[in-house]
Amino acid sequence: MRAKLDELVTAALQRGAAVPAFTCYDFTTATAVVEAAEETGLPVILNVAPKTAATRAGQRLITALRGLADGAAVPVCVQLDHASDLAVIVESVRSGADCVLADGSALGFEENIALVREVWAAMDADGGPSGRGSAAVVLEAELGGLAGDEDKAFAAGDPGHAGQEAAGLTDPAQVRDFVERSGAQLLAVAIGNVHGKYKGAPQIRWDVLERISAETDVPLVLHGASGIPADELLKARTLGVGKVNFNTELRTGILATLEAETTPHRADGENLQGLLGRWNATAREFAAATLRTLGD
Ligand code: 13P
Repeated sequence: MRAKLDELVTAALQRGAAVPAFTCYDFTTATAVVEAAEETGLPVILNVAPKTAATRAGQRLITALRGLADGAAVPVCVQLDHASDLAVIVESVRSGADCVLADGSALGFEENIALVREVWAAMDADGGPSGRGSAAVVLEAELGGLAGDEDKAFAAGDPGHAGQEAAGLTDPAQVRDFVERSGAQLLAVAIGNVHGKYKGAPQIRWDVLERISAETDVPLVLHGASGIPADELLKARTLGVGKVNFNTELRTGILATLEAETTPHRADGENLQGLLGRWNATAREFAAATLRTLGD
């Protein structure tokens, strides 16, 4: 069923829970994630990566995810992740995304605020299929820079790679002003988290998160959750982190399953249906376990 991201995450925080968001590059994974949410009775967020959304097929995927979310027995949001291209943002909302990470984190402080405000203005100017303009959309923004690639993950020891180290922490002193002036309804923070695989153990800066959380009432978002131990995700939850983003761990699991299962399923009469069933099971089990960890 349809839900507003800010309300969903705020309600989760009020009952001591957080909501996971899973990047879905395809419908098989998204279906598995929604099934896991229904199985656990918990809300979930389907994230679409900006490189996916920049293609015609990606826009059709967003429309398909819209239908999947609306038909689900639990609240499901469809979010365009890490977007800075206004045209792609407007098109994605028209296609069915109900929330967007307006990501100006690579810009300066004022330019970042200006980008989020530009997205609000574009939403107002474009009523979209709902005709409700910005009222139909929830905006997350990001302050501080997150190192790493959103779509590829390399570990220390992979040829030419050293694993990902944190960069550009969120400055707590900027948080209040940023949220007020940008109108962001959720705030993604950089507190030692990275996209992809961590170099060594993640070093979360709890002192920074505590100071950020004292500066704002909007729910905080932790990107780069793959590789962060569950007890640390639960600790983050007590400091205002109500949305937690996963991509790498889900991808790793699916690719390992495809690697192990493709040959036996080819031998079993070119059994694509069976292979997709294994793909579904892998994604569903990971999503259900994560939902239970964060939602209980
Ligand atoms: P990971 O790939 O590190 O899990 O990060 C996912 C993410 O933050 C998507 O926005």
